[in-house]
Amino acid sequence: MGWGTERNGIGMCGIVGILGKSTVATNLVDALRRLEYRGYDSAGIATVEDGSLERRRAEGKLRNLERRLNDEPLAGRTGIGHTRWATHGRPTERNAHPHMTAKVSVVHNGIIENFRALRAELEAKGHVFETDTDTESVVHLITDEMQKGLPPVDAVREALQHLEGAFALGIIFAGHDDLMIAARKGSPLAIGYGAGEMYLGSDAIALAPFTDTITYLEEGDWAVLTRNGAEIHDLEGAIVERPVVKSVASALLVDKGNHRHFMAKEIHEQPEVISHTLANYIDMAAGRVNFPDLGIALDSIDRVTISACGTAYYAGLVAKYWIERIARVPVEIDVASELRYREAPLPPNGLALLVSQSGETADTLATLRYCRANGQRIASIVNVRTSTIARESHTVLPTLAGPEIGVASTKAFTCQLSVLACLALAIGRARGVLDRDAEAAHVKALTEIPRHVAGIVRHESQFVSIAQELSKARDVLYLGRGTSYPIALEGALKLKEISYLHAEGYAAGELKHGPIALIDDNVPVIVVAPEDDLFDKTISNMQEVAARGGQIILISDAAPHKVACKVAAHIEMPSVGTIATPLLYAVPTQLIAYHTAVIMGTDVDQPRNLAKSVTVE
Ligand code: AGP
Repeated sequence: MGWGTERNGIGMCGIVGILGKSTVATNLVDALRRLEYRGYDSAGIATVEDGSLERRRAEGKLRNLERRLNDEPLAGRTGIGHTRWATHGRPTERNAHPHMTAKVSVVHNGIIENFRALRAELEAKGHVFETDTDTESVVHLITDEMQKGLPPVDAVREALQHLEGAFALGIIFAGHDDLMIAARKGSPLAIGYGAGEMYLGSDAIALAPFTDTITYLEEGDWAVLTRNGAEIHDLEGAIVERPVVKSVASALLVDKGNHRHFMAKEIHEQPEVISHTLANYIDMAAGRVNFPDLGIALDSIDRVTISACGTAYYAGLVAKYWIERIARVPVEIDVASELRYREAPLPPNGLALLVSQSGETADTLATLRYCRANGQRIASIVNVRTSTIARESHTVLPTLAGPEIGVASTKAFTCQLSVLACLALAIGRARGVLDRDAEAAHVKALTEIPRHVAGIVRHESQFVSIAQELSKARDVLYLGRGTSYPIALEGALKLKEISYLHAEGYAAGELKHGPIALIDDNVPVIVVAPEDDLFDKTISNMQEVAARGGQIILISDAAPHKVACKVAAHIEMPSVGTIATPLLYAVPTQLIAYHTAVIMGTDVDQPRNLAKSVTVE
């Protein structure tokens, strides 16, 4: 097995916080233990003790932290805790959370994109940094505001304005025994209510031993917690009420949070899980890809063969564009149910990539065995690391999407794309066809994706009105060119599998070769058209659709005046680097499918006739 399967502790950082009636250290560690499933390689807690901040941290497992606490107990009643899965900087005690100054202590999950600029600015003002982490810039930023005389709540409000990225934060302050601040932008956070006690956790599972009364912060929320309750502010700063719900997390390891369906929860989790997947393949501090050894010299690969089924196949199809364009290596791709029987000749020095969320799909597994028997080096991109496909691969490249429960794949898809994008960059670099600057630009574009995805899901309401129109249709077409073509295919698959509407994806250039016969004023046409080098060609196809009365729903970052065509709706996208485009444009197609299915009243998470894991032919 390769590096991917040998490495322990792959996962997502976990956050907990307690405003207790008595000493909280033991309960913080208990709560962290319930987040162990997310994976971690160091842990720590901090409390407010006699007005000062004190912390204990340890590399490795929680038992190491417990040993530290036995030797040097913490007595505070207000505390935060963290399990860290290293992204920026090695998994050492020095880099473990909580991070702190004399005034403030912070636990953090996610990526602070502009940490370099913040750090430089704060160092110039005299702040002394002790770690390699992006988190420490948050600590000094808040400290800086407090040094200007702002009280803690105002200092955090101000600091949040300057943070770019997708993240969750838990913050405590020296001299403030009854105060904790939480902030959510991209990564989930739950507040728990006890009797005269308050809790904070990355999810309700962490808080299950203490309370089942939970409020899930919404995107952009930040909250001020005291033992009396929580005051929640939205992105604009207004005080808002969020629902208080009874969690079933104690009975179930995965719950829906405050979402109606697992699919909705999984769409919303994408900023977090994409961050963590990218962090596994990118050295964030260096801004470079850090890819595991595949057991084959990347500069010697003559051909890459990709195979998968359904959504995972579409992830592979995007990768074909990336690997051919960025790394200049030819890629053969086919659905596994065909490749396994085609008796395709495979080259002596070939790499075979099998993509599968479950790792159990029968056709994909059979194709893996065919490729392996024909001398290919096997790397699998799987979400379930204990799966058969993982076990039978030479190297496993895990997606860190966490359990995907909804039958319609969403977060697993964008995590598959995250791994494949990094692989294309790694091959390109090894072959000397991708220079350092180009690699850095691609890496930057990838690390900005979680923030942009969070921005799209924040504007979810626009998809409801589009879904209302789609729910009246009989057929829906999806069009795209380049990497937007597989996104069109995936969008159509998503819509048909959960809404049962007939939908098809086409390469936009194929329109004239048949599908255009379907167009009339009852046919919605969803056009995936980032403003890239193929944009003008796609606009021409849109004009052909418009001329025949088709209702165009455009997903594009192009300014409206550049869209020389009448559209029924324009989902305005942020402009991002080309490598980031397919990941980002997948999200509106997921939300369109989801809301259409909800309106049509189907069983969104378990659509008829479908299974999550297809273990038979
Ligand atoms: C996706 O929404 C589908 N449910 C389906 O196409 C799925 O992607 C396919 O069955 C492959 O599954 P896998 O990723 O577990 O191998």
